[in-house]
Amino acid sequence: MAPATPSTHSAISLNINGEKRTLSVDHRTTLLDALRERLDMTGTKKGCDQGQCGACTVLLDGRRAVSCLQLAVAAEGREITTIEGMASGDQLHPVQQAFLDLDGYQCGYCTPGQICSAIAVIEEHAAGWPSAVTDDVRPEAAPPPLSADEIRERMSGNLCRCGAYVSIVEAVARGAAETQAMTSADLPQTEEAAA
Ligand code: FES
Ligand code: FES
Repeated sequence: MAPATPSTHSAISLNINGEKRTLSVDHRTTLLDALRERLDMTGTKKGCDQGQCGACTVLLDGRRAVSCLQLAVAAEGREITTIEGMASGDQLHPVQQAFLDLDGYQCGYCTPGQICSAIAVIEEHAAGWPSAVTDDVRPEAAPPPLSADEIRERMSGNLCRCGAYVSIVEAVARGAAETQAMTSADLPQTEEAAA
C-alpha cells in the first residue's frame, strides 16, 4: 500500500487586528497573500514580493515585519496588526494624521507600509533602541533625539518610488511628537495593545 500523501493545506486561525480569522491555506502561502487574496484585506501592499521594499509591512506582536517573507502558517498565535487596525473608529493614529496633514505620499502605494513601520520606529526609539547612525550606543547613554538622520536610517527599509521622502520624514517626526504628547489613554489602541 502506497504511503499516504502528506496534506499540503492546513486550517489556521489568525488573530488580525484583534479579530480571529479562520481559513485553510496552502503551506506555502505568505501572510501577505493570505491577507490580500484570501481575506480581502488589501490595505497591505505587495511591491517586490521578496523582502526589499517594505510595502507589505505589518506588525507582528508589535514589531514590524515584511509579510511577504512570513508564511501564514507561521503567523498563527501572533498578534497581527495591519494598516486597517491602526485607527480607532474615526480617530486616526497620530502617525496616520501626520501623513495626511503633511502630504507624506504621492501615489500612496507605499504609505500603509511606511505608516506601520513609522509606528514601530517611534516605539523602538522610545524604548531606547539605537540605530546605525546613533553616536553613543552605550546602554547608559540617553536616547538620541529622533532627528531626520535617525528617521531616515530607521525607515530605510521602506522604499518610496515616488520619492516622497522629504514629506515622509516630516510626517514621522510630527507623528512621533504627537504620539509623545498624548497620554497612552488618549492614543488609539492598536489591536495587540488593546487585546
Ligand atoms: S512586498 Fe514585501 S518587502 Fe516588498
Ligand atoms: S507615495 Fe508612491 S510609492 Fe511612495
